[in-house]
Amino acid sequence: MTQTMRVALVGLGNVGRAFLELMTIKRRVLRERYGLELVLTGAADSSGAAFGAGHIDHANLLRHKRAGHGVGQYPRLGHRGMPAAEMVRQVEADVLLEASPVNLRTGQPGLDCVRIALQRGMSVVLANKGPLVVAYRELMDMAAPTLPSPVLTGNGGGWLKAGWGSQRLRFSATVCGALPVLNMGQRDLVACDIQRVEGILNSTTNYILSAMEAGHSFDQALREAQAEGVAEADPALDIQGWDAANKLVIIANAVLGVPATLKDVDVLGIQDITPDDLAAARARGQRVKLVAVAHRQNDTYRFSVHPAALPLDHPLASVSGWEMGIVWHTDIMGVQFARVDERGPIPTAAAMLRDLVNLYA
Ligand SMILES: NC(=O)c1ccc[n+]([C@@H]2O[C@H](COP(=O)([O-])OP(=O)(O)OC[C@H]3O[C@@H](n4cnc5c(N)ncnc54)[C@H](OP(=O)(O)O)[C@@H]3O)[C@@H](O)[C@H]2O)c1
Repeated sequence: MTQTMRVALVGLGNVGRAFLELMTIKRRVLRERYGLELVLTGAADSSGAAFGAGHIDHANLLRHKRAGHGVGQYPRLGHRGMPAAEMVRQVEADVLLEASPVNLRTGQPGLDCVRIALQRGMSVVLANKGPLVVAYRELMDMAAPTLPSPVLTGNGGGWLKAGWGSQRLRFSATVCGALPVLNMGQRDLVACDIQRVEGILNSTTNYILSAMEAGHSFDQALREAQAEGVAEADPALDIQGWDAANKLVIIANAVLGVPATLKDVDVLGIQDITPDDLAAARARGQRVKLVAVAHRQNDTYRFSVHPAALPLDHPLASVSGWEMGIVWHTDIMGVQFARVDERGPIPTAAAMLRDLVNLYA
């Protein structure tokens, strides 16, 4: 039996458009393997929204967007200038997919869209970190199951509620795209004490550092990252370390059970790293990486994002170019290292699809 899932999409940039592509490419797999039929019932970008009676032909909307037109100008169903939150308030959908730009100060426009969707009983899948970084606790409380659940009572209930128990709000795409960092931390490191987490969590800065080692200038390397569609709309978020810090805050809240905010992270980006710094590190048998660290001392975690000169035998020293990686130091499951080589926005859209399937499968 096939179940129809109605989705509404906010943000049709690199990630949103990649998601529309996956709706076509993976249609058969979703139907045959998971019994799921995805239909698009609403969409919004900076020009407005589209929704109405019936479904939107997602392939046609993708062509419309690629031709340079806004969603608000979509024939028949377009509402020019309508804010995304208004579309979410009115659309008939089961799941909101949120892929608008990060705003670290207000979390908007994503935050209001998520609030409204959860209030209306919809599930939510995020690529945008902004709403989580600004309002993690509030959103988790809104998304928590309302029915009594054995995992949400008794000792440890609060910890479970911080992450895995909140089934309706999924955000595995927000931390390293397709690399299942949050899934590993929440689902697989069961009963572990995590003593240290080290990660290369931002592929734009990792690419820039690798390209500079290979003789490219900083500006040239940044332009290449932007052309791939992985740099943030505001590249300062990547270069100054804030994107990696956002991801560390999400790991802290969702995996480590610590209600950290950006204020708890000591952040220094790669803006002052020069080719000479990279060459000098190389001569010492080291490689410079932008490393996010959560380190536990006694019962407290310290959080930082800094450029660090790593010895060549450190697992993260070999994570280069478009790769990202994470090392978990645990008490009972050893030291685990995972990496991904992901180029372009498709893997992030694929992580949204993973969350979507996991909501219902
Ligand atoms: N790119 C990646 O590989 C990647 C990886 C992980 C997470 N993410 C996250 O995913 C999100 C999207 O990234 P992206 O690369 O797709 O960004 P993007 O290319 O800049 O696209 C952003 C989209 O949001 C729309 N938008 C802007 N302001 C809006 C508003 N006020 N209301 C509704 N829509 C609005 C834009 O509209 P217009 O089309 O009209 O400009 C555009 O369609 C970001 O939060 C990013 O941090 C991206």
